[in-house]
Amino acid sequence: MQVHSFFSLLCLFCFFSTVGALFGYGLIRCQFTSNHEVVYLEQIYLNKVLLIQYNSTLGKVMGYTEKSKEIADDLNKNPAFLRRRRKDSEKCITHMPLVMDVLSKPVEPYVRLRSVEAASSKHPAMLVCSVHDFYPKQIRVTWRRDGKTVTSDVTSTDELPNGNWLYQMHSYLEYTPRRGEKITCVVEHASLMSPKLYDWDPIHESDRNKIAAGTAGLLLGLIFLLAGVIYFQKNTTGRLLVPTS
Ligand SMILES: *[C@@H]1O[C@H](CO)[C@@H](O)[C@H](O)[C@H]1NC(C)=O
Repeated sequence: MQVHSFFSLLCLFCFFSTVGALFGYGLIRCQFTSNHEVVYLEQIYLNKVLLIQYNSTLGKVMGYTEKSKEIADDLNKNPAFLRRRRKDSEKCITHMPLVMDVLSKPVEPYVRLRSVEAASSKHPAMLVCSVHDFYPKQIRVTWRRDGKTVTSDVTSTDELPNGNWLYQMHSYLEYTPRRGEKITCVVEHASLMSPKLYDWDPIHESDRNKIAAGTAGLLLGLIFLLAGVIYFQKNTTGRLLVPTS
């Protein structure tokens, strides 16, 4: 008996080390549907596969593998367990005003304008206006060239959900640079009183890169200088201890 359990322990170890990628996790979720219904879920996953879950709409536990089906059956026969889940489900409803409060407030996006390598051979240059972390989803991102709205050679992604109730989107402008022109990314969103303008400043960017390179160089120089000074001091103090004549 003891030998047997020892072996199964060993085998368990083998299993872990050869497969090497077991990842289990549990999730407790309140799902708010658009018609203001609430579903309370407790889920246990192993390697992204749902093994077992409690669903408040069903009011019971469901198993999705042979073993977890047995466990689910046992839990569903346990009134204390089910009572506890029902009590936890109510928390979703008491927390509902909190969620609604968050969802009623627009969140202002963080915008970054930068140049990227052109994707097509039509134009040599491309700008991307990245709009991050906004809520609600509705947004308008447009481009202006010397104040005039540009419609051609613009491509935009959809509003992409981050998964944390915030969204992001990216708009691309392909263009042929003209001397002295002003290119602007325009963002219109519920969080902003008026459209917010972001001007493209090519000189600024190259300046920033130069400053960054310069700072890195200076730091490296300082490190070498410091190392040199320490080395020099060590050598001279060592020599001073020995009388030369
Ligand atoms: C919870 O149960 C309801 C009713 O059967 C079902 O419509 C819903 O899809 C379930 N939710 C999940 C996440 O399985």
